[in-house]
Amino acid sequence: MTKLTTTISGLLLLVAALPAVANNTGIFGKSGRDEETGSCIQCHTGSTPGEPNQPEPAVLVEGLGDNLTTGGFATLRITVKTNDPTGGVAAAACPDRCAGFNAAVDEGAGFFLVPDGSPLQVNAARDEVSHVAKSPFQDGAVSYDVVLTGLSRGDHTLFVGAADVDGENFTGDRVKAARFTFAVTDPPPPPEPTDDAAGCAQAAPTAAWSTAGLVLLLARRRRGARA
Ligand code: HEC
Repeated sequence: MTKLTTTISGLLLLVAALPAVANNTGIFGKSGRDEETGSCIQCHTGSTPGEPNQPEPAVLVEGLGDNLTTGGFATLRITVKTNDPTGGVAAAACPDRCAGFNAAVDEGAGFFLVPDGSPLQVNAARDEVSHVAKSPFQDGAVSYDVVLTGLSRGDHTLFVGAADVDGENFTGDRVKAARFTFAVTDPPPPPEPTDDAAGCAQAAPTAAWSTAGLVLLLARRRRGARA
């Protein structure tokens, strides 16, 4: 009975461990948007008693300017910077440490698109994006390019859970949960007709004249060729 219990708990442990192992290939639901599903710190560093999450990586986002319009798109560049000088594990292809991330927007804000061949993946709802494989830092930074399309009007938030890992296991990893707010507004209405537009209309007869002139010229040439 004890043996059976051990086997069962062993199996349970294995089942519990399996989804975690899959996180080597990226993870959804850990951006920090959904409190009930947690964030990177659950497993990386935070699970190691006594190890502080220091120094945290920095997360920067470009492309969330004030020109975002309803129905339009934002071209985003999410950059993770390591601040940890301890280095990583060369054998794990992380000599200078590696990055990974999971970003999400509030529901209905828009839909993520990743370029073909990009090292990123989106979830079924297309409101989350994540790395597929860890990316080695180069000069201390890794940038991920992604498009957020079908923007909806209003105030929104981009949530980014990022990890700066040593490439080996949970220890020596640093995580950061960052959020960035952005506003999407309706595009300005088409310009009212102005005096300039009237000027264009006045210019039209001139254009008609020159067309007439061209026809006349061609006709003369043709006549000339016949003669
Ligand atoms: C449920 C636990 C869990 C959560 C939450 C989690 N990970 Fe992981 N992650 C793992 C496990 C297990 C591995 C494989 C062991 C390792 O290398 O640390 C891993 C590996 C990684 C790796 C590759 C590291 C390597 O050594 O190959 C990266 C990068 C990574 N995770 C990033 C993240 C990011 C970013 C988040 C939050 C958005 C996150 N993880 C959340 C469990 C988790």
